[in-house]
Amino acid sequence: MILVTGATGTVGRPLVRALRARGAAVRALVRDAGEAPAEWDDGVEPVVADLNDAGSLAAAAAGIEAVHLLTPVGPDAARQARNVIDAVAGAGRPKVVLQAAIGVRRRTVPVRFFDAHTAALDHLEGSGLPWTVLAPNGFLQNFLALLPDLRRTGTLALPAGDAAVSYVDARDIAEVAATVLTTDGHEGAVLDVTGPRAMDHDEIAERLGAALGRPLTYRALTPEQARTALLGTGMSAWQADGLVELYGLYASGAARAVSDTVPRLLGRPALPIETFLADHATALRAGSAPSQENH
Ligand SMILES: NC(=O)c1ccc[n+]([C@@H]2O[C@H](COP(=O)([O-])OP(=O)(O)OC[C@H]3O[C@@H](n4cnc5c(N)ncnc54)[C@H](OP(=O)(O)O)[C@@H]3O)[C@@H](O)[C@H]2O)c1
Repeated sequence: MILVTGATGTVGRPLVRALRARGAAVRALVRDAGEAPAEWDDGVEPVVADLNDAGSLAAAAAGIEAVHLLTPVGPDAARQARNVIDAVAGAGRPKVVLQAAIGVRRRTVPVRFFDAHTAALDHLEGSGLPWTVLAPNGFLQNFLALLPDLRRTGTLALPAGDAAVSYVDARDIAEVAATVLTTDGHEGAVLDVTGPRAMDHDEIAERLGAALGRPLTYRALTPEQARTALLGTGMSAWQADGLVELYGLYASGAARAVSDTVPRLLGRPALPIETFLADHATALRAGSAPSQENH
């Protein structure tokens, strides 16, 4: 039995699918039983728990062989990860696959979103549990949330400078996670997970524009301009500052490297942006963020 936290999210949805395709029995953590997607078959056991409620996690952790530990972005993520690690450590010696982010161990630019991953890894190392860390780059799926804005403004405005980023399709992260969860030989590894090549944001804007059916240009914002714009959307200061830090990391060039994790573990190249755009063509044409239903 493999416990999946974040099972209804961007990585979790395709991860549950990938585990089922490998024949694994899945326990999928949900906050509300009504959230269980219709696509989950009898091999997926929804379990209701909350990452903030340590007591609720004991039943989720009982009898598992492995756990995919994903915490949402937020100021409570370090505590949430600790709650899961303590719950699974209390239930035996399952393998833990921690969903972190690039630079979990060697950050050159501080990014508050990633502090929880570093803290979780420290806690894991002290737990005696066998672990593997997945350290993905930025998700291509992030651009889907920007669609209404892109269509309205014709501009991809980000504080990313002229840096190239090897953005990754979250479905590849899910496939890598499923492989690591169901096969041996990955203990103690920190696996960077990236797309097949780095692209600058001029190219991304051009490709997104072609898929939207509307010309799109990239505009590099200063960190201050970005912060003001994000706060103007009603975003919390913690989240806005975190995004500015994240794009600062990208702008530094630290997210440009391409890793061999996807080809090495999956035996095929990482999904290129062309596949991502083709698979989301309907949502892109409509200019609205799609549901996760089919992707
Ligand atoms: N986006 C990127 O570019 C990027 C890059 C590298 C690393 N990451 C890392 O990836 C992670 C985010 O992954 P994602 O995009 O797949 O997440 P996501 O789509 O935001 O989904 C979050 C998941 O966590 C669940 N959740 C939220 N609060 C919970 C709680 N209190 N108790 C139980 N479950 C809760 C949500 O369930 P509900 O359905 O109930 O809300 C959902 O399943 C973060 O750790 C982030 O640092 C992201």
